[in-house]
Amino acid sequence: MVKKPWLYLSPEMAYKLAPLALKFHGTFYPTKKLRWQPFEWKGIHFDNPLGISGGVDKNAEHLKDWWSYGPGFLELGTVTPKAQQANPGKIIDRNQDAMGVWNKMGFPNQGLARFRKRIEKLNRPYATPVFINVGKNRNTSNENAHNDYIRGMLELVDFADAFVINISSPNTKGLRDLFNKESLSAFLNPIFEARAELSESSQKPMLLKLSPDHTDEQLDNILQVSLDAGIDGWIFTNTSATAGRQHGFPQEGGVSGAPLTELSKTALVKALARLASDREGKLIVSSGGIMTPEQVFERLEMGADLVQVYSALIFEGPGFFETVARQAESR
Ligand SMILES: Cc1cc2nc3c(=O)[nH]c(=O)nc-3n(C[C@H](O)[C@H](O)[C@H](O)COP(=O)(O)O)c2cc1C
Repeated sequence: MVKKPWLYLSPEMAYKLAPLALKFHGTFYPTKKLRWQPFEWKGIHFDNPLGISGGVDKNAEHLKDWWSYGPGFLELGTVTPKAQQANPGKIIDRNQDAMGVWNKMGFPNQGLARFRKRIEKLNRPYATPVFINVGKNRNTSNENAHNDYIRGMLELVDFADAFVINISSPNTKGLRDLFNKESLSAFLNPIFEARAELSESSQKPMLLKLSPDHTDEQLDNILQVSLDAGIDGWIFTNTSATAGRQHGFPQEGGVSGAPLTELSKTALVKALARLASDREGKLIVSSGGIMTPEQVFERLEMGADLVQVYSALIFEGPGFFETVARQAESR
């Protein structure tokens, strides 16, 4: 593989400059439609099943820019009710040899109001489906966390094709505790009760994004409790708080990219086996260590409806969507 030019920059510098390069492309190139393995779910049409993951466009600043590269869908966010800064200190790193990325961002974002201002300016229908990933502010307690997610949903309900409930980031202290047996239904139920009070057309599908670090017992419980609450699907998975440390990444934070491939694949396999017939009508999205076109096709063949990438965009660039589409055509 030829090393992309931006990989000669420091991870922080590349992260800062990427939006400029994106904006440039989006300004000069129109929306690109890449049609392969089209998919329909709850009246939402996907031209292709390969989308961008949460965290790539946290503030809804780059939809048009991303559309110029041909993804099948976008996931925006994580957005929290109030704007907040990144965690202090180093927040991103990468290891070229291991094709791994490490981050400790902690939901830096401009908050719901600015997110909404931007997205409401866009013409509908969108060029692709848009998922919005919602989170809680770091100073909101876990007991009150559901209120932050409800605020996200209510504020943005007119702009999302589906919502992603993100409690799987390892970078907001205690956030993953919401998955615990004692907490999960008390957290999820009020969100679904709030959704049920909306008009039928505003009751948008809700997906839950899981961690790759759950034990089998936790995974079983999460799937059951979320099904009981009324979940519409799941994303397997977020970054890992355990994988990839042999590549020199710090103990805290989350690792993505190739060191995550096996973990997120295993989570998908286990979940599909446990869900069996409960899977009917639910959306299964695979994210985590999908770095090559072959890995995209593999996850789809394993049973994912959709797949998402973040780290592949860091190492391969946004041309990845076209590369995958070309290979899909020639299969
Ligand atoms: C720098 C960075 C920031 C991220 N921010 C978010 C985020 O805000 N919300 C979220 O749900 N996931 C976030 N993620 C996780 C990704 O959405 C994705 O689930 C994870 O990186 C695994 O996919 P990958 O191996 O293709 O990168 C982030 C990942 C990275 C590398």
